[in-house]
Amino acid sequence: MTTASEGLAGVIAGRSAIATIGHEGAGLTYRGYGIHDLAGGAAFEEVAYLLLYNRLPNSAQLDAYVTRLKGMRRLPDKLKTALELLPGSAHPMDVMRTGVSLLGALEPEGENGRTGSGIADRLIASLGGMLLYWYRFHQRGERIDTETDDDSVAQHFLHLLTGRRPDPVKQKALDMSLILYAEHEFNASTFTARIVASTLADFYSAIAAAIGALRGPLHGGANEAAMELIARFDSPGEAEKAVRQMLAARRLIMGFGHRVYKTGDPRSDFVKEASKRLGEQTGDTTLFDVSERIEQVMRNEKGLFPNLDFYSASVYHYCGVPTSMFTPIFVIARTAGWAAHVIEQRNDNRLIRPLAEYTGPEEKDWEPLECRS
Ligand code: COA
Repeated sequence: MTTASEGLAGVIAGRSAIATIGHEGAGLTYRGYGIHDLAGGAAFEEVAYLLLYNRLPNSAQLDAYVTRLKGMRRLPDKLKTALELLPGSAHPMDVMRTGVSLLGALEPEGENGRTGSGIADRLIASLGGMLLYWYRFHQRGERIDTETDDDSVAQHFLHLLTGRRPDPVKQKALDMSLILYAEHEFNASTFTARIVASTLADFYSAIAAAIGALRGPLHGGANEAAMELIARFDSPGEAEKAVRQMLAARRLIMGFGHRVYKTGDPRSDFVKEASKRLGEQTGDTTLFDVSERIEQVMRNEKGLFPNLDFYSASVYHYCGVPTSMFTPIFVIARTAGWAAHVIEQRNDNRLIRPLAEYTGPEEKDWEPLECRS
C-alpha cells in the first residue's frame, strides 16, 4: 500500500480470536458468544473470566473467581498514601492512569510469580477501590476500607461510592454496562495496548497507555461529554432546538456515530432500556426524555444512531455516579478486554511498526549555523 488510510479506517491491522464486531450474521460477540445473551443473562465476572481464560466458567469456577477477585481488593499502604497526595481536583482518569502506574511499581510483573492474567484480575478487583479511596479521602476526609464482602465489581463500586449497599436495580444496570463495555476488538485503546505489548513492555504499561487513549472524547470520554450535553436541557423541546443549532454549526454530538457500525450499535438498546427503567424508578424521566429526543433529531437530520456511550450517560447519572467517573467505569470494564488482547498479542507477537506515507519536503542541503538567514 503506498497511500495511507485516514485513521486506519477499513485496515485489517492484525488477527484476533477475541471478538467480532459488526460481522454479517454474527454482530458483536465475545469469544463466540452473542452480546444479547451475555448482557441479558451473564454477570460481569463471568464475562471477564470468558475474555481472560477463554471459556465460560461453570458454577464452581465462577464462585472461585468471584472469591479470588474479592481477595484482591486490598490497596498497598504506599498506594493509598500516593492517592492522598494527588490533588482532590485531579480528573478521575488521571487517578486511574496513575493508580495503574503505581501498582506496577509496587507489584511489578514477574515478581512473586505475577503474570498477565493475574495482574488483570488484580486490576479489575482494585481499580474501583483506588478511584473511590481517592474520592472519599478528598471529598469527605475519610480513609475507607476497600476490602468489602461485596459479591461483584458493580456492587463494590456503588458501595464504596456511597458507603451504602446499592439498590439492586442500579447494581444490575451497572453490571450490565460493564459487560457491554468489556471488549470491542481493535478500538483505539485496545490497539494502543497491543502496540505497547508488542514491544515486550510490561503489562501495566500496556494498560496505562490504553487508559490514556480511552480518555479522549472521540473514544471513552464520549460518555462524559454526552452527559454534559443532556444535563444542559430541562425539556426535550429545548434539547431539540439546541442540537439542531449545533448541527448547523457542524459540531459533533458526542455519543453518536461509530467507526465500524454504520446502521446501529447493538449495545445501545440495552442501556436505553436501563435508562428508561431507572428514570421511571427515580420518578424523573427528564434526562431520558431529553436523550430520546436528541436521538430522534440525530436520526432524522444526520442518519446517525446512538452508540453505547450515549444512554450510558443517563444510566450512570441515575445510578448516582458523578459524571467525571463515567470514563473510569469504562476503564474497569475494558481492562478485561485490554488484558485479553495483551495476552493474545504476547502469545503470537510481532512488533507493531507500520509505515507512514511521507508528506514532508524534498531533500535539502544542510547549511552550517553561521550561513543560515
Ligand atoms: N455528531 C455529528 N456529526 C457526526 C458525528 C457526531 N457524533 N459522528 C459523525 N458525524 C459526521 C461527521 O461530521 C462526518 O460528516 P461529513 O462527512 O459531513 O464531514 C460524517 O458523519 C462521518 O464521520 P467521520 O468523522 O468521518 O466518522 P469516523 O469514522 O471518522 O468517526 C467517530 C467515528 C465515533 C469518531 C465519530 O462518529 C464521532 O466523533 N462521534 C462522536 C464521539 C463518540 O461518540 N465517540 C464514541 C465512539 S463509540
